[in-house]
Amino acid sequence: MLLLRTRVIPPAEMLETLKAWWEPLLKKSRTIRLGVGGCVRFKIGDLDMVVDFPRAKVREYAGEECIYWYTIPADLVSTNIRDREIDWSNSIFLSMQFQVGRSGKFNEFLTTFLKCLSVDRIEYVENWYQEQTDQTEDAEIGDWLVQRRCPHLRADLTKTGKVDEDGVLTCSMHDWKWDLKTGRCLSTSGHPIRSTKIDEATDPVQQEFGAFRSAIRPSSRSAEGSERGADLPQLSDTAAPEAEYAVNQGPVQI
Ligand code: FES
Repeated sequence: MLLLRTRVIPPAEMLETLKAWWEPLLKKSRTIRLGVGGCVRFKIGDLDMVVDFPRAKVREYAGEECIYWYTIPADLVSTNIRDREIDWSNSIFLSMQFQVGRSGKFNEFLTTFLKCLSVDRIEYVENWYQEQTDQTEDAEIGDWLVQRRCPHLRADLTKTGKVDEDGVLTCSMHDWKWDLKTGRCLSTSGHPIRSTKIDEATDPVQQEFGAFRSAIRPSSRSAEGSERGADLPQLSDTAAPEAEYAVNQGPVQI
């Protein structure tokens, strides 16, 4: 097959083009950004750039620690930019004309991002991830009925949550704590949890109060909903929820 390649795009122009293309996608990719959880370096001819997933930024490489690094011929990337290829795992990685290294385990979220370089695809996979981590379900933990998914990064609290005698729940994923009597997060601002004492849950009067308390307190789902699409630099020092996502194979077969 004859592959018609385009002129090589100069490094500064290539960086600006990829920045304008990928940053809006990164801002829509909250789950993917958390799942990648670090910087990925791309050496493309004379361009040396990083994609900073936690911060949703594309910029020149400046010596930061990276979890993955790719070296790809500039003419191949230029052709993909010209053709606005939305699946680089197909158009570049199947070509075998690249080199890759990584510091940790294979990251399915990174591969998924590089397969989904359009708004439609990103929205599809983000919606899929949201459906897998529904936060509306409650679970019994000790004497408490608590939302099953951690308000931080959605760990399954039936596995990671522990409640002490004072009604303080600790999620072992990142050791954040919540006062279950008030639902308040004791580790950071925001991130309330939905919780009811089990004897209250069976008392119709307390049930009504619990429903009222939930109604006046913004749920973690709505709090996150308002964050969707926002830059989240505070997440950069947060470990990716690998244990949780290990069960997810992703919506796209790689
Ligand atoms: S996922 Fe629960 S504290 Fe981070």
